[in-house]
Amino acid sequence: MLESIKLRRSIRKFTSQGIEDEQIHEIIEAGMWAPSGLNNQPWRIAIIKDSPTRKSIAPLTRYSPIIEGAPLLIAIFLDAGASYDRIKDIQAIGACIQNMLLTIHDLGLGGVWLGEILKNKEKVATILNAPDNFELMAIIASGHPAEKGGRAYRKSMEEIVFLKDHP
Ligand SMILES: Cc1cc2nc3c(=O)[nH]c(=O)nc-3n(C[C@H](O)[C@H](O)[C@H](O)COP(=O)(O)O)c2cc1C
Repeated sequence: MLESIKLRRSIRKFTSQGIEDEQIHEIIEAGMWAPSGLNNQPWRIAIIKDSPTRKSIAPLTRYSPIIEGAPLLIAIFLDAGASYDRIKDIQAIGACIQNMLLTIHDLGLGGVWLGEILKNKEKVATILNAPDNFELMAIIASGHPAEKGGRAYRKSMEEIVFLKDHP
């Protein structure tokens, strides 16, 4: 598990080869099994393979080449109707997204979490015919990797652990 977590990198370039439905199913299933407060499972998912749809979403972010070049997009929404606590619901959706990214990595595929597009979240929701009470949280772009991930960097444990009450 720790190896998967550490070896996963954001992949932003993909080959044109599509992802099989069975693998998409596995990715979504991993997301669905994330923990959520009161087990309310507030995530809602749109699966986009269609190239015209990707082309209409692409101009809504400065990462348009990633959107256009990814054979699979997974848009993750928060359903306000299922929400009970905004912070906790968004945390749960983060867990859902990370489960999917790790599964993408384990399947030998590549993916990246796209957040910059949230500046146009309403427009994306309209394009995807999302119900009114669905709020876009992120898009995962995925496909077969056409690049190695960038160099991994993380802060040291000393920088992030602010309290350790034993030697
Ligand atoms: C909330 C969030 C938003 C992100 N938004 C973008 C984005 O819009 N475009 C992008 O290329 N990467 C985006 N990323 C990916 C980060 O840049 C990446 O995870 C980080 O640099 C660490 O690299 P790694 O994923 O390879 O470990 C986002 C990641 C998170 C968690």
